[in-house]
Amino acid sequence: MQQIDVPVLIVGAGPAGLTTALSLRQYGVECLLVEKYGGTAHTPRAHIVNQRTVEIMRHLGLEEGLREVATPSELMRNNLWITTLADPEVARLEAWGTGIERSGDYAAASPSQMVNCPQTVFEPLLLDALLETGCDVRMRHELVSFEQDDTGVTSTVIDRDTGESLLVRSQFVVGADGAAGRVLPLAGLVVEGKTAIANAFNIWFRADLAPYLAHRPGVLAWNLAPGPLPTGRLGTLICHRPFTEFVLVINYDPENEDPTSFDDDELKRRIRAVIGEDGVDIEILGTSPWVVNALVAPHYSAGRVFCMGDAVHRHPPANGLGLNMSVADAFNLAWKLALVVKDQAGPELLESYSTERQPIGAAGVARALASRGEFAAVADALGYEPGQSTEEGRRLLDELSTPGAAGEHRRDLLRAAVRRTNHQFNAHGIELGYRYSVGALVDDVPEEPHPDYDTVLYYRPTTRPGARLPHARVGLGTSELSTLDLVDGARFALITGLGGEGWRAAAAAVSAATGVGIDVHVIGEPGGLQDLYGEWADRREIADTGCVLVRPDRHVGWRAGNFADDAADVLTRALNDVLCMA
Ligand code: FDA
Repeated sequence: MQQIDVPVLIVGAGPAGLTTALSLRQYGVECLLVEKYGGTAHTPRAHIVNQRTVEIMRHLGLEEGLREVATPSELMRNNLWITTLADPEVARLEAWGTGIERSGDYAAASPSQMVNCPQTVFEPLLLDALLETGCDVRMRHELVSFEQDDTGVTSTVIDRDTGESLLVRSQFVVGADGAAGRVLPLAGLVVEGKTAIANAFNIWFRADLAPYLAHRPGVLAWNLAPGPLPTGRLGTLICHRPFTEFVLVINYDPENEDPTSFDDDELKRRIRAVIGEDGVDIEILGTSPWVVNALVAPHYSAGRVFCMGDAVHRHPPANGLGLNMSVADAFNLAWKLALVVKDQAGPELLESYSTERQPIGAAGVARALASRGEFAAVADALGYEPGQSTEEGRRLLDELSTPGAAGEHRRDLLRAAVRRTNHQFNAHGIELGYRYSVGALVDDVPEEPHPDYDTVLYYRPTTRPGARLPHARVGLGTSELSTLDLVDGARFALITGLGGEGWRAAAAAVSAATGVGIDVHVIGEPGGLQDLYGEWADRREIADTGCVLVRPDRHVGWRAGNFADDAADVLTRALNDVLCMA
């Protein structure tokens, strides 16, 4: 039997597993990635890539490549509610931070804007980059079991082509093996919540729909066709490649129908019903049934095994969190694994993966579920009820264009219901504003302040430990960077201002003693980094001489309000606390 010794075994080449492997390679850590199928996702699945994920791709050197293959945010703008594409539109909302009201918030918050990129395009980008690093990636290799002991994990992986077993001895195992994965149960972990909330069926197809969409580009068109079926039944149209490649998502009742038995004619009939015209040529590219759940694991890790992505959180696609939370899980864990493997951090640091990421996963699942509920208000505002006749539905729709009090009331109700969906389609706070409250950080605010703003809709930059470092534009010579770019690989960044130069000697002493890299950036120094628009001063919440210690995942680990005479001592204590070093 072939045997492999490697620091980290990663199971699953989805967004979570690929991001973990790429990050570890960037940090100079060897890993083995096994994937039970012969390639990456064969149908589009998740597609909204939010700012945090584009930033993570930026940090992995893939932002430009992603932009080349993805749909840019300006073409993600219009969320449509339709009866058919050919009929007058029912309602419209500017989505994903592209609207007049919100685009400034999104632009100010990050150097990276959102894109739309289905998994069929996203995953190959990551896999190609990973293979270029020389990473050991084994397709058609399935993990079947593992056992942990005090010093490592012994896993059995089957080569699905030859049937031969591979014995892998690793310090750690990452279970990025999705909703049906084995690692979670084998580790004794569980997920809790609601199962089978809805049954969905994706029809992936090619058709030229530019005549219906080019003047109102967007990602999602929600169906509000009148009739006895619950609304949404004609399906939600997702634009994956403007305006030629789409997925139609049908919700169905498994008691009454089985879409997996639909032939091509039936699939095309469903698509034409949404288009509202018969003449369009359609090529079916694929189908996939899936089940909507709302589940989260109370613990993401057990001993030397760490689970992430769909393995630990599964939820409705509302808010587009599936791929994004999976990538962020990976980016949180990878630097911790790297420092522990390199002996630059105590093994307890790894416990902070679950304490930091689990509350974010739970909040994401809860938000997606709430958004799904709020979404029903749009159909309710029209007066739609299950079982209603098509004639009654049409009459209600007609009210929208009827003068008089009844029509005005209906229009007001619809506008209010559409606005409420901002919590799904412009939820900047959920996308970017999360903060870790316990974990690899030293907090300095004794009591949780009560936010005076809607934390789902809005992101407020803060350097409070646990938060993602605020983006601010800084200049170096003729180049413009983001403060987020000041972190290099698995090293920490310490950002200070004029009068804080003393942190340099402190950081050098701490690095020499611990082996942990700390790069000091003095913003405002002649010839050095400049706070081009005063954004860093506005957002840093410390004095010029203070400092912000930024972790490799760009979250704040610790900050000091001012320079301290015993700077090396306070920095040592802070870093030891963050990294769980005795
Ligand atoms: P992901 O499931 O992507 O990857 C896990 C990988 O592990 C897979 O490649 C699998 O083959 C591999 N694997 C499993 N067991 C293994 C083993 N024992 N050994 C080796 N490899 C193993 N979301 C959304 O927002 N909109 C949508 O329309 C959809 N649609 C959709 C359809 C279908 C059919 C599915 C399954 C899922 C969706 N999703 C979705 C969810 C979305 O795809 C999901 O959130 C992300 O893919 C999660 O990424 P992960 O990397 O965590 O798992």
